[in-house]
Amino acid sequence: MSMTQTVEDALKKPFGTVYADKMAVARYKDGVWTPFDIQEVKPFEMHPAAHVFHYSSTCFEGLKCHRQVDGSVHVFRLDRHIERFRNSAERLCLPIPDADQVDAMVCELVAECADWAPVFPGSLYVRPTLIGTLPSIGAAAGPSTEALLFVILSPVGDYFSGGLRPLKLLVEEKMRTAPTLGMVKTGGNYAAALYATRKAREKYGTDQVLFAPDGFIQETGAANFLMISEDRIVTKALDPSFLHGVTRDSLLKIGARMGKEIEEREISVDELLTWAKTGECALSGTAAVLGGVGSLVYREETYTVGTGDYGDETAKMRSALVDIQRGKAEDTFGWLKRIS
Ligand code: PLP
Ligand code: COI
Repeated sequence: MSMTQTVEDALKKPFGTVYADKMAVARYKDGVWTPFDIQEVKPFEMHPAAHVFHYSSTCFEGLKCHRQVDGSVHVFRLDRHIERFRNSAERLCLPIPDADQVDAMVCELVAECADWAPVFPGSLYVRPTLIGTLPSIGAAAGPSTEALLFVILSPVGDYFSGGLRPLKLLVEEKMRTAPTLGMVKTGGNYAAALYATRKAREKYGTDQVLFAPDGFIQETGAANFLMISEDRIVTKALDPSFLHGVTRDSLLKIGARMGKEIEEREISVDELLTWAKTGECALSGTAAVLGGVGSLVYREETYTVGTGDYGDETAKMRSALVDIQRGKAEDTFGWLKRIS
């Protein structure tokens, strides 16, 4: 089977289940990072007492490379993702990798694997990951002084199966995660959202759970939440309780340039339900891009959002973002970096 065929076939498979054949790997021991190398993707050998298995010392990033209209491959806002990655490492008391090292690992790996970057609407998802490998089950209250840093790549299509369709969310008033860890991109947050998300899917057929602890909107298990209209974007203001999305930030900048009023503030569930009568709602994230919300389930009642379809303003915002990412519109914000 040709390489192009393998990459195109990957887009028909569930998001993030096909991987490029190479990865970048570096290790931290005795207070220093080893230089990274690029090697075949293969399983790691790890001691069963490794810190990550017991005490969840793990963080990751999710970013994308896009094949441009002219065939070149560019990475989107790598610097912002590296900054967040380093903040996550610090918060988990893991050795903090140098920004230059992570940048080089991503760029050199993607340059070697550029053939794995699909054409639009596909993209090459990049997953830098950092885990604590110190073999010590006694270190429950101590950091892992040994670590493994790796980057893997996955050619991807849509995150939500079924393509561009309106999403259904359950509004859940229970806490998703420890408030101080919300802005850390760590596996535990996804584990914390899993049970509620699975139960909601089984019971209501929802795509995601929109967490709204104490009746105020936070985010979903894998994306930020935006309310969008012709003249406004309203979203929760940044605080430590949720992930500060790079896509959220990009959309707010694009929206402001389109002339929309940007409101970053608290949103109550009551306000959301009123907004949903006429306005649009959407989920933003690297994987999700910008997914339109068609309906909300809240306290056993289903509420249609806007027309119930993928909203026009949401579609406009998504196109504006995607056009920059794939080089169809000018990158006036300086978000792209050419890799290959
Ligand atoms: N919130 C959560 C919990 C996420 O997993 C993601 C996805 O990465 C986001 C928000 C959106 O972040 P970003 O736009 O940087 O991908
Ligand atoms: C992303 O959008 O990059 C995410 O991390 C969400 C998901 C794949 C867990």
